[in-house]
Amino acid sequence: MSDLIQGGYLIAAILFILGLKGLARPRTAVRGNLLGALGMLVAVAVTVTDQAIVSYWVLLAGIAVGSSIGALLAVKVQMTGMPELVALFNGLGGLASVLVVFASYVERVDPEMEDNTFLVAAGLSALIGAITFTGSIMAYGKLRGSVPTWRSSTAAYVNVGLLVLAGLAILGVVFKPSTIGWLLAVIILSAIAGITLVLPIGGADMPVVIALLNSLSGLAAAATGFALGNSLLIIAGSLVGASGLVLTQVMCVAMNRTLANVIFGAISGGESLDPDDVYEGKVRSTSADDVALILDSAERVVIVPGYGMAVAQAQHAVRDLARSLEQRGTSVTFAIHPVAGRMPGHMNVLLAEAEVDYEDLIEMADANPMFAQTDLTIVIGANDVVNPVAREPESAIAGMPILDADKSRTVVVIKRSLSPGFAGIPNPLFAQENTLMLFADAKQAVSDITKALNEV
Ligand code: TAP
Repeated sequence: MSDLIQGGYLIAAILFILGLKGLARPRTAVRGNLLGALGMLVAVAVTVTDQAIVSYWVLLAGIAVGSSIGALLAVKVQMTGMPELVALFNGLGGLASVLVVFASYVERVDPEMEDNTFLVAAGLSALIGAITFTGSIMAYGKLRGSVPTWRSSTAAYVNVGLLVLAGLAILGVVFKPSTIGWLLAVIILSAIAGITLVLPIGGADMPVVIALLNSLSGLAAAATGFALGNSLLIIAGSLVGASGLVLTQVMCVAMNRTLANVIFGAISGGESLDPDDVYEGKVRSTSADDVALILDSAERVVIVPGYGMAVAQAQHAVRDLARSLEQRGTSVTFAIHPVAGRMPGHMNVLLAEAEVDYEDLIEMADANPMFAQTDLTIVIGANDVVNPVAREPESAIAGMPILDADKSRTVVVIKRSLSPGFAGIPNPLFAQENTLMLFADAKQAVSDITKALNEV
């Protein structure tokens, strides 16, 4: 039986690795996702045959409740709510690790215990899992706009202090295993550290934090795998941990930040501009008909999509506009910022869904030199990712690389008002001399432009 279980785990692990490989390319992503899901099915099926399972009824009840909630969420959650959902999933992964390891500790530990692998793994799982849980709940609240960013120059010291104390409590777990208070201390200190670590982080750094929490949820699972002696949990947790760390690193490079700087460096909120000073008397609005006239004579057009395109579900309308332009002989490219939207690859996923050619999507580094030769850049529901104040060293988003849309001959920005984006700061691009604002819902505005263009 044990060989059968190990064999099943091996097959599941191979399926996970093939799944991850498939997810690396848009063309193979759907297959990769299916392979990963199949791996999980094999893993669950093999696990329920394990002799160590105490009650199949409790297990079935758990699977039934969990699957129903999962299915309901999958159907109900809008595409724009996905990042919050991912944050919640990360948090639940961390909480599951804490609960499983705590139960295992209560069951196994006795005053004479000398199984250091178990004790160290249990301590680490509790530490990482609790940080992941409360940190992810904070991230969830921030993405929903219900948790404000709290910055203080002492935050970094508080965080280091809490982590040191939690580390010392792990020593207590190892050297005094019979005192359950040490494990509880690890959990409580780490849960507080999760809150204080994420509270000061905000604005442009949030994507990095979410990728990091994703990685931590995997590492917590891997530590739980060591505590339980479960090879599949170790492999699956390590895969999530490693891929999350790679994503965190990619995000840091894209945002021109170091991880230490993101976690411990958020001390100053930066200079905040007064919207009246930025906009008053300088903003020029336009109409769909006028934009169609500009497009009629444009040879090179760049489209910059952002979070507002996702909110409006405008991707199909945007594809229709791009096709109409191409049929008229206009060159159209999409400039994609790495953190446009609210999750990694958000714009790529939406545009792929609308069957925009993957070759037409240009990454930031390749897109930026193109703007100076562009007749018209249409910014669709993007804000922070085209905010030129990022070039000012004192600004709240200083150092965040942006798309140089402001350098094109004419810029049309489609959004509903002058409200700020995720970072909460005004955008001088909207008041620039070569910028025209089309105040409308992105889907409606883009459809109106296409209609007007086809009538020119
Ligand atoms: P944002 O700066 O958030 O701006 C989006 C703009 O879309 C808003 O100013 C809003 O203006 C507009 N909008 C909303 N609904 C709209 C609609 N129906 N029609 C037209 N416009 C609409 O977006 P961005 O430029 O994509 O930048 C992303 C931001 O999110 C960055 O700060 C990034 O750091 C952060 N973030 C990203 C991620 C990832 S991984 N991508 C994760 C977390 C946070 P109105 O209200 O005036 O319409």
